[in-house]
Amino acid sequence: MSTTNASPLTSLDQWEDDVLRRYPDPESIATSKSTEAYRNYEAPERDTVREFYKLNHTYQTYDFVVQKREDFLRFNRKEMSVWDAFQFLNQLVDDSDPDTDLDQFQHLLQTSEAIRRDGHPDWMVLVGLMHDMGKVLCLFGEPQWAVVGDTFPVGCAYSNKVVYSEFFKDNPDYNNSEYNTQYGVYEPHCGLRNVKMSWGHDEYVYQMLKDHLPEEGLYMLRYHSFYAWHRENEYSYLLDEHDKKMLPWVQLFNPYDLYSKNPEPPDWEKLRPYYEALIAKYLPSTLKF
Ligand SMILES: [Fe+2]
Ligand SMILES: [Fe+2]
Repeated sequence: MSTTNASPLTSLDQWEDDVLRRYPDPESIATSKSTEAYRNYEAPERDTVREFYKLNHTYQTYDFVVQKREDFLRFNRKEMSVWDAFQFLNQLVDDSDPDTDLDQFQHLLQTSEAIRRDGHPDWMVLVGLMHDMGKVLCLFGEPQWAVVGDTFPVGCAYSNKVVYSEFFKDNPDYNNSEYNTQYGVYEPHCGLRNVKMSWGHDEYVYQMLKDHLPEEGLYMLRYHSFYAWHRENEYSYLLDEHDKKMLPWVQLFNPYDLYSKNPEPPDWEKLRPYYEALIAKYLPSTLKF
């Protein structure tokens, strides 16, 4: 299956740039207006993003997710301090445009600083700092479509509000009667914790940090790319009361991820003591990858 290694995006940021194009307005949560405008945009990146979603939607099957969870959630690849992990993550460099794009760490720092500036709890600042750490999956040889992209439940019918949902017809699960009904393998209102999401950097970082942050922060990590839920209000029939309570937290986080990008890198040397103390407060001295 050589196509599964294809990397249509010239950088992982292209996916997030595209999400920003789709949701340009922080106030557009749960309206379809932005989605309509997005459909008409003309940009050279559009084809690569399309190609990326074609692969993502075709190959993210229920079995694929089960297999990736069994493999990566053993966390037996590497053990690093958070600082070493940031350096490791930064090896993900954008070959297309090294001058204009900030590295991964700068995006994390800009997200966390924007959260801090607004006076949110310190654990949420830490969520901002850590939320894309799961992108190290790329450095373990995983293809782009198994690391980034909007996430969605597998094992049940797809919402047509998932971006490029037309590509799901190429997914083997689409014609599998076990998986293609509204509830599929799930019970009504079973709660998202019982639902398997398409595999990527959200679930991976959630599992890595699940013993160290408050529940609200864990939801932010785990579902930050689940746009069909936190932006489009889809999949209500899978949600339980707990998910509904957590949704506003996921929605609170999303604008910091999307709208904090700034060409000016934060002054890391000045910020360092604050972040060293924050990390020491919540996280163990090393993390397992
Ligand atoms: Fe992310
Ligand atoms: Fe992000």
